[in-house]
Amino acid sequence: MKSIFVINGPNLNMLGKRETNIYGNKTLKQIESECIKQCEKINFSINFFQSNSESEIVEKIQSIATHFDGLIINAAAFTHTSISIHDSLKLLNIPVIEIHISNLHKREEFRRHSMISPLANGVIFGFGPNVYNIAIYALQIGWENENQ
Ligand code: DQA
Repeated sequence: MKSIFVINGPNLNMLGKRETNIYGNKTLKQIESECIKQCEKINFSINFFQSNSESEIVEKIQSIATHFDGLIINAAAFTHTSISIHDSLKLLNIPVIEIHISNLHKREEFRRHSMISPLANGVIFGFGPNVYNIAIYALQIGWENENQ
């Protein structure tokens, strides 16, 4: 059984209340339960972690290194600033999918630069909360292709 870990960065615990015109009305809990349903259908396990603290995210990335088959990360605002998350992702030997709910290129200039993208296998953004489901699918088809 493939195992996926999902990391969400600062302020994503406020989804559903936060800038709903940009991020939509779903809460993080609702998004997570949809991901769980999706993974149950394909027999993947999925675990979630959210933190507003950069150091906690770095420590989490360090601790998952050998325990999961794939990482989906929405580092939120840390995407644009964090050398320490960038460095910690270098420890991983598993596929990493960077996601963002909003279309970063439609927004402020400072959101166009990502410290995560150079370490990601791929980046998905702009499709609202569906980016979580699309990322799971991206991992799934990647693994299926490996087995062909
Ligand atoms: C975000 C985009 C970031 O620029 C922002 O700081 C976030 C959320 C997104 O999911 O669209 O907090 O990562």
